[in-house]
Amino acid sequence: MHPGVKEDKTRLKGGSECIKLSIIFLLLNINHFVVPVTGYSLRNCRISRGKALCTKNKQQVTEVPRDIPSTVEGIDLSSNKISKIHVSDFKNFPILTTLDLSSNKITQIDTGAFANLISLNSLNLNNNKLDILGDDLFYGLSNLTELRIHGNKIKSVAPTSFKSLTSLTFLDISNSKLHQLNKVHLIIKHLPNLQVLYLQNNDISYFNSWELTNSSLGLTSLDLSKNPIKVFNITADIFPNLTWFNIGQCPQTKPTKWDVRNKTFLSRVSTLDISRLHLKMDDMKMLLESVNSSLTTLRMAQMKHYLLSTLINISCTIPTMSKLQLKQNQLSVIQSHFFQLCVNVTELDLSYNQIQNIQEGAFRSTQGIKILSLSHNKLPSVPAPLNDISNLTELDLSSNEITKLECHDFANMTKLRHLHLSYNSFPALQDCLFKDLVKLQVLKLQNSSIADLKNAFKNSLPNLIKLHLDQNKLTAIKHGDFMGLQSLQNLSLHNNQIKKLNKGCFIGLTNLTNLLLQANRLEEDSIKHYSFNNLKNLKKLDLSNNHIRYKKSSALHPPPFSNLSRLETLAFYVQRRRERAYLPCNILQGLTNLLVLDMRNLHLPSFPKDVFKYTPQLQTLDIRSNELSDLSPDVFSPIQSLEKLYISTTNLRSLDFLIDANLTKLKFIEAKKNQLHVIREELINSLPALVYLDLEGNSFTCDCDNVWFLLWVQKSNQTQVFDAYNFECNYPAVMLGKKLMDFDPQSCRDNIDFICFISTTSTILLFMVVSYTYHFLRWQLAYAYYFFLALLFDAKNKNRQTHNQYDAFISYNAHDEPWVIRQLLPKLEDEQGWRLCLHHRDFEPGKPIIDNITDAIYGSRKTICVISRKYLESEWCSREIQVASFRLFDEQKDVLILVFLEDIPSYQLSPYYRMRKLLKKKSYLSWPRAGEHTELFWEKLRQALKTREQPEDDKFLLNVMDRP
Ligand SMILES: *[C@@H]1O[C@H](CO)[C@@H](O)[C@H](O)[C@H]1NC(C)=O
Ligand SMILES: *[C@@H]1O[C@H](CO)[C@@H](O)[C@H](O)[C@H]1NC(C)=O
Ligand SMILES: *[C@@H]1O[C@H](CO)[C@@H](O)[C@H](O)[C@H]1NC(C)=O
Ligand SMILES: *[C@@H]1O[C@H](CO)[C@@H](O)[C@H](O)[C@H]1NC(C)=O
Repeated sequence: MHPGVKEDKTRLKGGSECIKLSIIFLLLNINHFVVPVTGYSLRNCRISRGKALCTKNKQQVTEVPRDIPSTVEGIDLSSNKISKIHVSDFKNFPILTTLDLSSNKITQIDTGAFANLISLNSLNLNNNKLDILGDDLFYGLSNLTELRIHGNKIKSVAPTSFKSLTSLTFLDISNSKLHQLNKVHLIIKHLPNLQVLYLQNNDISYFNSWELTNSSLGLTSLDLSKNPIKVFNITADIFPNLTWFNIGQCPQTKPTKWDVRNKTFLSRVSTLDISRLHLKMDDMKMLLESVNSSLTTLRMAQMKHYLLSTLINISCTIPTMSKLQLKQNQLSVIQSHFFQLCVNVTELDLSYNQIQNIQEGAFRSTQGIKILSLSHNKLPSVPAPLNDISNLTELDLSSNEITKLECHDFANMTKLRHLHLSYNSFPALQDCLFKDLVKLQVLKLQNSSIADLKNAFKNSLPNLIKLHLDQNKLTAIKHGDFMGLQSLQNLSLHNNQIKKLNKGCFIGLTNLTNLLLQANRLEEDSIKHYSFNNLKNLKKLDLSNNHIRYKKSSALHPPPFSNLSRLETLAFYVQRRRERAYLPCNILQGLTNLLVLDMRNLHLPSFPKDVFKYTPQLQTLDIRSNELSDLSPDVFSPIQSLEKLYISTTNLRSLDFLIDANLTKLKFIEAKKNQLHVIREELINSLPALVYLDLEGNSFTCDCDNVWFLLWVQKSNQTQVFDAYNFECNYPAVMLGKKLMDFDPQSCRDNIDFICFISTTSTILLFMVVSYTYHFLRWQLAYAYYFFLALLFDAKNKNRQTHNQYDAFISYNAHDEPWVIRQLLPKLEDEQGWRLCLHHRDFEPGKPIIDNITDAIYGSRKTICVISRKYLESEWCSREIQVASFRLFDEQKDVLILVFLEDIPSYQLSPYYRMRKLLKKKSYLSWPRAGEHTELFWEKLRQALKTREQPEDDKFLLNVMDRP
């Protein structure tokens, strides 16, 4: 047997299958068994929306994969172990626009490696190990606009490294080792269109404009933060267009020398970050003066070298400055005079300080503030001075230490739209709390230990759209709790301890579209019909990770979701479930517009037959991690719109249930970690829309049963099979630990499939040959005619008692005649006294040869075939075997005796199908094995000739030689 080939071939039932297989093999044959990989399934990547994603795989690649199709527009090779980019790696990607090589180990890039990427716009080389950039490294990238190369250790740059990047507008070369500005000059002098330059954290200590250039640069944004700048000296107007400038986070303790001679040099900067910058007070004044007419946003974090109120006063005199950020300044008290001059400020960020107290009047002159953040401070209550800011629209008080809310806290904030109070601790709300917030649209109250809603939402907040109450300690929702929220669309109640949903608990929420109730303690009794029946416009309901577990699949009266006819998404899954659950057969009743259903991990053993008949629009079904093992097509046939099916980890042994379900729109199947062994052609053919199939973690039968699938994976231009090249074999034993895609389809040549192929293709070929070249093939046709006659003759002889003229007909090849004449003939005829029929001696001259053969075989009791390689090759000899075996099978008489003159290994017999089949059934005599004991050989032959035709007898007698 050939390794890896199963013996029983019960699969081939009809002729049509035979023809299909033949066509596959015909295709294969044309390609000389070299299968070109032109399909969609890649070894290390998957294609999604025109991009090759080769990242976050189990196995990281060390080279750029070769099988990425040249039609992709993006390649993501991030987080791998590539160390070198070769010239040949990106030769053929004419329409590639984005290439991500970040987080590899690249130390070397061959010159010209990117030369053919004529369409590339964006190249990411962040977090590699480049230290020296060679000459014309980016040759060919004339369309590149974005280059990210941060987190390398670049210390040296060749004069022409960046020469070709004439379109570049964005360059991030942060976190490197470009100590000197003249290195930066080598880079930017080639980049006429550069607008954004990030040079963060490069150890630059001297910034002298003459080192960069003598003419102006087009930069609009410059990030010099985290450099230990000692001197900042601009003597020429090199940044006429600079609007965004970050020189913050300077780790220098001594004051930086600031020499900007002309006040117009930075006069367009609108966003300035001077966090932790240490300048002498006069220099600081000079800096702020130079942006006096353009600044809108000023960031001053960690200004530990200054008296903050002085800085605030200076900056608030800049009339254009409207956004002031003062994070991380360790402020604990906001004094009343701090913002006296900040009349033009509209956004103030005071987050990440230690503020406990805001003095009265602190915001009296800042009437213009619209957005105020006080998050991450230590406020014990809502500070009263906030009510002075009558124009406030957004207030962030999250992550403070507020323990109590009072009715007057927000009394004056009638224009407030967003209020963030999350991450505080006020266990009970009050009914008067939000009464004045008539315009409020978003209220965030997460993680604030709220256990009681106390009618806070019964009469107020008519314009509220989003309410976040998740991560609190609510245990029940009572009748009318949200009655006043007539505009509410999103309600988050997840991660509470809700066990009870009382009747009418969602009354008034007629506009609610999203309701999140996951991770509570809801049970099947908590979600009765009446819980949800007011939510007529609900589109999304998340009930996952609760304690809902049905113990029967019998119908519910009434079904819980019967009023939710607009619902599109229902999530029901649990994270951890140990006990088995059942699905009531009508649980989905009423969900006529449901599109997405998530029922992961419910430990369902099966689905009730008609469970999906209520959801005809369903497009995405997730039933991962159940214990299904077997699914019926009937379950799926009502959901003809299904596009995505997730059935990983469900103990499935086959996907064949999909064949009859007829899901013609199904595009996506994820069936990881099942027990799928064979993927059949019928299955794939029944899914005409399939574009993505994920079968990771299954183990396959690596034999001819999967050849069709294997070839399809390689060829399909429509469907990609994720991870296909990692599919492992679990059968047959010799293939254990090997990969399915490494199984050689060629080995299926010598089994029945191949015979099948031979017979059909030769029929086709014969037809062609007969039609076109009858002239040259007359002789063969004549033979076919006689062979046909022989078959008739055979049929005629079937029931007729034939008189045996000879004891044995010897079938042999002329090549072996010497052995027959010198050894066999004397032994059998002279010594043992049998009557033999030999063609050279006993055939009737003039009679057609096929008649002679037939007569000789039917006229003899036995036929001895003397088998050698020559014999097998000879056409007539194989006819003799054929006729004899007709007799063998048709008359049920064992007339054949096989004598091997040479040792022929069984795999060499592969093409001689009939012979192989005979050998499987019969024992035989081997002359070479007889060795010196020829007497034993002749004795066995004598016994074989002696036996009558009863099959039992000869089995007993002929089992003298073991098969190889
Ligand atoms: C790339 O640049 C060339 C000129 O260098 C231009 O003709 C071509 O349209 C650009 N291609 C893309 C995709 O931008
Ligand atoms: C500055 O911007 C203006 C208008 O956007 C532009 O015309 C000019 O060329 C830019 N200056 C430089 C040096 O690129
Ligand atoms: C800035 O550069 C000018 C011209 O090169 C030089 O005269 C001046 O001393 C420099 N300033 C500082 C603070 O180094
Ligand atoms: C400042 O620079 C601008 C533009 O380069 C120039 O017009 C102006 O005369 C300079 N002013 C001084 C005081 O040098």
